[in-house]
Parts: sequence; structure tokens; C-alpha cells
Amino acid sequence: MAKRHPAFVCQECGAVYNRWKGKCEACGGWNTIVEEQGSASPMAGPVATRPSRAKGRIFPLEGLSGETKEAPRTPSGIAELDRVTGGGFVKGSVILLGGDPGIGKSTLLMQATAALARGGHRVVYISGEEAVAQVRLRAERLGLSDAPVELASETNVEDIIATLSEGSQKPALAIIDSIQTMWTETVESAPGTVTQVRGSAQSLIRFAKTTGTAVILVGHVTKDGQIAGPRVVEHMVDAVASFEGDTGHHFRILRAVKNRFGPTDEIGVFEMSDMGLREVSNPSELFLSGRDLATPGTAVFAGMEGTRPLLVEIQALVAPSPLGTPRRAVVGWDQNRLSMILAVLEAHGGLKLGMHDVYLNVAGGLRITEPAADLAAAAALVSSLSGSPLPPDTVYFGEMGLSGAIRPVAQAQARYKEAAKLGFASAVAPASKTEKGERAPLRASSIGHITDLVAGIAASRPRGKPALHRSEG
Ligand code: TYD
Ligand code: MG
Repeated sequence: MAKRHPAFVCQECGAVYNRWKGKCEACGGWNTIVEEQGSASPMAGPVATRPSRAKGRIFPLEGLSGETKEAPRTPSGIAELDRVTGGGFVKGSVILLGGDPGIGKSTLLMQATAALARGGHRVVYISGEEAVAQVRLRAERLGLSDAPVELASETNVEDIIATLSEGSQKPALAIIDSIQTMWTETVESAPGTVTQVRGSAQSLIRFAKTTGTAVILVGHVTKDGQIAGPRVVEHMVDAVASFEGDTGHHFRILRAVKNRFGPTDEIGVFEMSDMGLREVSNPSELFLSGRDLATPGTAVFAGMEGTRPLLVEIQALVAPSPLGTPRRAVVGWDQNRLSMILAVLEAHGGLKLGMHDVYLNVAGGLRITEPAADLAAAAALVSSLSGSPLPPDTVYFGEMGLSGAIRPVAQAQARYKEAAKLGFASAVAPASKTEKGERAPLRASSIGHITDLVAGIAASRPRGKPALHRSEG
């Protein structure tokens, strides 16, 4: 039988050491290593103490093709949520839902469970964080008190599984809010440690697989946006979704990060109101509302989120810097991507940005990850530097290479269509080869190099504004 050694486990990334250290070598975290009992390896979980059998069982091997049924799904009835899961919760699957505290995870799940329960499914909501009275208060506020959701405030995994397994009708869906508050007797470590979270998740996943109940685990998120502690849990579950948004804004975005049974990169858009989360079926309209048309430094980006086109405003401010090292700040986009665009604008666009502070912001609290936003960001930057507003009825998209060449991006036609639908008259984008046969529903001017963009914006520069190409002596 394997002997149990005490192990020192990093609470951030799950790395295991045989002695205590101040800094975790795997993730670089300080003071994150805690002594735990019985962890043999980072991925192993609780150590098995059963004696091993002398001989293994022989099982049949299968071919790649054969009769397999489509995974049975339970749609929640909330369209934006079903879009992200890929059409509903798959029987026996486990979803990890991450998000900042207070972003609305419990609210979303309460609305989803109520919708399912009203549809005649058995749904259980286990809260480890709030008392039953608190959960009831939220349900009352959301006007869902009459939904037949079964509720409990519990943290012991064995008790929860015993309760869920009881009776002939197994629940279609069980919510565990949150996995960090759960503890299992199979692991000796204190509640909240990585080993506990992993052990609890393991037991709950096994329960889901054997009974066919879909389980949603709520996970807290650390300051830098990772699901706290157990990155390892992300590998164990079938799907990982994150609920994002800025507490200063009302928009909330549900994003699938991993999905074994459906698409990733698909987003669901919600608006937080005093009556809970409301679905937003046309997000472009929402993200473009309140747009300032005549100011320099704003460009509309025609983006794609999964299969859905999404128009957003990108705002830039380029101003002479009083500092030796000018400031570069970005919200909603990648800092490295901004540095790259600035370098390309300097090297190939002939712009001098070295003495300027640069701020870039994606309006509405949205976070963009698509490289296709390069051209829109560049247009906003050039517009701000030159002081000339971009035409308000134009959208931009295209990926920029280090040479300054603008490269085609996927799904150009879908982007054009969405822009035309929202009243835009023209688009500046790289020529796309594959969709030449189809006519763009608006005036599309193709652009091949960053110099074309700079020249185009400089040509519309109002009188009295400084030239873009400043000679520095
Ligand atoms: P909650 O779902 O408790 O967040 P999480 O579970 O992710 O920590 O949501 C908390 C916030 O949502 C809280 O700040 C209040 C706000 N809220 C509303 O604005 N309207 C509502 O109808 C509800 C229920 C919450
Ligand atoms: Mg909560």
C-alpha cells in the first residue's frame, strides 16, 4: 500500500513540492504553498488506498464509426445561455462556471434553474455560500418564488451526493454554488485548499457520469482572471464558461472557454437589471448606443463572436506626453497587440508616437480577442493623432501583419451584412478571396497596407490640424 506523505501544494496552480517554499516555481506565486496530506502528484487527486489487482480485466475495443446517439440535451429556455452550451445541458456533463464575485453567477443560475423547473424538470440548487433564506430572497426579487426548485445550504460532498441520489427520479440539473466551499471526507486537507476542491470536484463529476445528472460547479476567479486555485479542475470538467463584465456597466457576457459538447467562442449577452439578467438578442445595437459621432479617435469594429457578428466602438486617445516614458493603457483589448500596432504605425505608417501617451478602450466593457480588430484600432489611433474624425457610417476590420500588410479575416460577408443591417454605408477591410462571388451589401473599399489607411485619414484632415508625419530634429 502506498504510504501517505505530507505534501506542499501551491494553492494557485496545484504544483506539489516535498518541502515548503516561499515562491512557487511553477506559477511564480508568493506565499501560495500550503502543507496538505496525501497528495502524490499534481494531477493525482486523493491517493487510492485499495490494493491493486494482480490481473486486469479485458475490455472490448471499438471502431471510430459505429452507432452513437446524439448527446441528449436539456435546453434551459434562456436562448443566450443555450447558445453558449451548444443547445442545452448535456446529460451527465459537468460545467465549471467562473466569474468575478458579484458579477451575477448566482443570479444567472437561479434564473436557469427556475426556467428548467417550470418546464417540468427536477432541479436542485445547493448553495455553500448563502443560507436558504438569502437564496429565497433573491428568487423573490427575481419573481421566481413559485418555481419548484429544490434548495439546500450544504457543503459536505458526501451528504450532497447521498441526497441527490435518493429517490427514483434523479435531478436533471444540480447546481453547486460554489466548488470552493465544498469539502469531502476522502481528503484530509482543510476546506478551501486545492486538494479539497479537486477531491470534491472529482466526487461530483463521478456522480454526474454515473447518474446522468448535469452538474454546474460555480468557481471563484482570482484577481488576474483565473478560476481560483484549481486550474486542474478545468481539465476535469466537460465545459468551462466564464461570466464576464464590468461592474460599472450593465452588460454581462457568458463565454464558453472549453466545451466538449459544443462550440467555444460563442457568447451570450445579458443586461443586469433590477429584475435580474435580461437577454440581449441584438448586442451590436446595445454596444453602439450612445456613440459620439463627430469626435476623432473612434472607429467601429465589425467583429465576430463565434457565429454571431458584433459591432463595437473602439476608442483611442493619443496625446503629447509630459512623461519621459509615455503611458500606454488599454481596456478590453490585449496590451501586447496595442504595442505591436503602435510599432507598425511607426515603422511602416510613418507616424511618430514615441512622445505620446496612448489610451485604447473598447466601449461598453466588452473584451475583444480577435486579431481582426487590428485595423479598427489602428484607424482609431491615426484618427486621434491627426484630429480628424472617421466617417461615422464606416466599419473597419482586418488583421495587421508586422510588415504593415492588412490580411483578410474569416467571415467577411457576415460582418458586412451586420454592418448594413445597422445602417452603415461602407466598410474598410482587406479584399477577401473566398467570398468574391457574393456581393457585399454595402460599399466595401479594400485596403492592402497600413499606408493606405494613414493616407486615407490624412486626406480628410481638417485645416489647421497638425500633419501626421512630424519631422523631429
Ligand atoms: P450574484 O448573482 O449574487 O453574483 P455572484 O454570484 O456572481 O457573486 O449577483 C450579485 C449582484 O447582482 C449584486 O451586486 C446585485 C446585482 N443584482 C441586480 O442588479 N439585480 C438583481 O435582480 C439581482 C438578483 C442582483
Ligand atoms: Mg454567488
